[in-house]
Amino acid sequence: MASFPSLKGNEAEYIESRLETYRAGEKVGANSGLMIPNAKDLSDDDIANLAAYISSSFK
Ligand code: HEM
Repeated sequence: MASFPSLKGNEAEYIESRLETYRAGEKVGANSGLMIPNAKDLSDDDIANLAAYISSSFK
């Protein structure tokens, strides 16, 4: 669905940067408000691990 973007095909750097932006509470799209609470408590390690996992597994 357009409001819930697919995570596949993204570089790890892109996913990391998005999660850092959401963690900081900054909006990047119309529905960032749904994602910001999910990223709020992530550590730097969490973000690095999620980005590595998603970019290598979601094909
Ligand atoms: C492990 C859990 C999750 C991860 C790793 C994750 C990761 C991401 C990433 C990387 C993006 C950016 C996508 C892009 O820019 O193409 C994103 C966007 C988004 N996510 Fe999540 N997400 C998670 C859970 C959730 C949940 C539970 C919801 C629903 C409540 C959600 C709703 C959204 C929405 C609506 C967007 C688009 C926000 C916008 O318009 O800026 N996500 N997510």
